[in-house]
Amino acid sequence: MSALSKLYSEIAQCHRCEIARFRTHAVPGEGAENAEVLFIGEAPGYHEDRLGRPFVGPAGQFLDHLLTSIDLRRDQVYIANVIKCRPPGNRDPLPAEIANCHTWLDKQIELISPKMIVTLGRYSMAMFFPGKSISKIHGTAQKRDGITYFAMYHPAAALHQQSLRSEIEADMKKIPPLLTAAKAEARVEPAPQPEQLRMFEV
Ligand code: URA
Repeated sequence: MSALSKLYSEIAQCHRCEIARFRTHAVPGEGAENAEVLFIGEAPGYHEDRLGRPFVGPAGQFLDHLLTSIDLRRDQVYIANVIKCRPPGNRDPLPAEIANCHTWLDKQIELISPKMIVTLGRYSMAMFFPGKSISKIHGTAQKRDGITYFAMYHPAAALHQQSLRSEIEADMKKIPPLLTAAKAEARVEPAPQPEQLRMFEV
């Protein structure tokens, strides 16, 4: 059993939040365990709760279309959410729920070790771009500790506001060149460490 599968079992048993009582399934996330790109949405909705899989409803169909537009399939990336249980009535996640679920997401990031993290929507953005506004920073990237963070509107935003659709599509197209750059930087030899330099001292 992989470390991620073990994590799924732990998430399925998690009852840190009240909303765990109402779930049909926890929705840990899915995709390639060594994915270069990790997409992080907000929370499972009705369809996700029924199936235990992320982004399988209407927003998920648009996400699939966005992935196809950059020649990626779901099984080549990893898709997760900030919280793993559906908030009743699809309300926004509460700060306590986000805090309780943070350790699961941190562990996923550690195990997958992606080159790029793409935040989908405000809640996911707030974790990695604190204090920023989505309307200002969508389509922009920040590199920190070897990971490129890229902020996007949530795919569901295009379903509610048709005018955002082309902006979201344009932002998605920025991912391949950012990923190529992130991989090229990772290939650059690291600077020699002091111990290595000592070997050359006379
Ligand atoms: N919206 C999300 O943020 N995540 C899902 O999994 C589905 C819809």
